[in-house]
Amino acid sequence: MNQIDYLRISLIDRCNFRCSYCMPEGEELNYILRQELLTQGELLTLLKEVFIPLGFRKFRLTGGEPLLRPGVVDLIKTIASLPATADLAMTTNGFLLAQMAEELYHAGLRRINISLDSLDPKTFDLIIGNRGKSRWEQTWAGITAAHKVGFDPLKLNVVVIPGFNDGEVLALAALTIERNWHIRFIEFMPIGNHNLFGSCAWIPSEELRQQIRGKWGLIESAVRGNGPADVFKIPGAKGTLGFISQMSECFCDRCNRVRLSADGLLRPCLLNETGEIDLKTSLRSGVSTLELREMVRELLMIKPEINFKQRDAGTVTGVYTRTMSQIGG
Ligand code: GTP
Ligand code: 5AD
Ligand code: SF4
Repeated sequence: MNQIDYLRISLIDRCNFRCSYCMPEGEELNYILRQELLTQGELLTLLKEVFIPLGFRKFRLTGGEPLLRPGVVDLIKTIASLPATADLAMTTNGFLLAQMAEELYHAGLRRINISLDSLDPKTFDLIIGNRGKSRWEQTWAGITAAHKVGFDPLKLNVVVIPGFNDGEVLALAALTIERNWHIRFIEFMPIGNHNLFGSCAWIPSEELRQQIRGKWGLIESAVRGNGPADVFKIPGAKGTLGFISQMSECFCDRCNRVRLSADGLLRPCLLNETGEIDLKTSLRSGVSTLELREMVRELLMIKPEINFKQRDAGTVTGVYTRTMSQIGG
C-alpha cells in the first residue's frame, strides 16, 4: 500500500477569481462562515497531534485562494519550522504574488504552483470570469516575482478546456524552452461547473503530447514530482512538461494524499465524497486528539477502496456537493 504522507490543506474557500472550471457560473456559493473555519490553533493542533504522528511529512496550502487567508505568512512560518515538515508548498492563482512572493519565501515556503490557463489576456479574463480591467498582467507579474525570489520548482498549471485555451498548448509549452519552469497540462475534471461538462469537455493528454512531439519532439524526463503528473521535456529545454491525466488514465493506485477543507472535513479522495470525516466538529466537541488520530488512521486504511474510478466507474456524471474551490484542487 502507498505511504499516505501528503496533506493538502485548504485555508479558505473564498477566491478573488471565478474560474469557469472551478466554480459554477452565476450561482451563489455558500461560503464557509468565519466561525466555521479551522482556526490557526486548531489547524496546528491537528498537524502536530494527529497528522504528523501518523507519518504526514508533506503539506500543501490551497484555497479557494490561500493568499486571502488572514495570517497566512505566520502560518507558513510555523509549519515550515516544525521539525517533521519535509515539504511545504502552495497552490495559488498568483494574483497577489507580486506583492507577497518575497515574504512568503522568507517565511519558509519553497515550492509554489500557480494557475495560468492562457497567455492571451482576453482568454485569461474569460476563463477566470473577470469582466473588469484585465488581470493577466498582474498574474504574470506574480509569476515572474516568484521566479525572481527563487521559488524552485516553479510550476504553472493549465487546465485545458476545448474552445477556450486548447489552441495555446504549443505557446504554453514553449515557455519551458528558455525557462526552468514546469508547465503542467491538466485534464479538465467534471466538478464545479456543470455548463462545461459536455462529454467532450476534456482532451486526453496524449493528444497534447502528439502536438508537442510533432513540433519539437518530446522525451521522458528523469525528474519526477511527488504528484500525479507524468513528466516529459522538449529536447534541450530548460524546463519540463507535466501531464495530469485523471480522466484518461487512473493514477489512484499511486495516490499519496488526503485533503483537509477549510472547515475541517478530511476527504480521502478529490473526486469521491465517501468517507469524509469532520475533524473540526469532533475537536470542538472535546474528542481527544488521540481518538482523532485513530479516526484518521482508520480512514487511511480504507482509502484505497475510496477513489475516483470506484466512485462512478470513470463516467463523468457524478454530482458533487462541493466545488473545486471548496476542496482545494
Ligand atoms: P506537486 O506534484 O507536489 O507539485 O503537486 P500537485 O501536482 O499535487 O499539486 P497541484 O495543487 O498543482 O495539483 C495540480 C492538479 O492536479 C490539481 O489541481 C488537480 O487537478 C490534480 N490533482 C492533484 N491531486 C489529485 C488527486 O489526488 N486526484 C486527482 N484526480 N487529481 C489530482
Ligand atoms: N479540473 C481540473 N483541474 C482543476 N483545478 C480547478 N478546477 C479544476 C477542474 N475542474 C485546478 C487548477 C488549479 C488547482 C487549484 O485546481 O489547475 O491550479
Ligand atoms: Fe480560484 Fe483556483 Fe478555483 Fe480558479 S481554480 S476559481 S483560482 S480556487
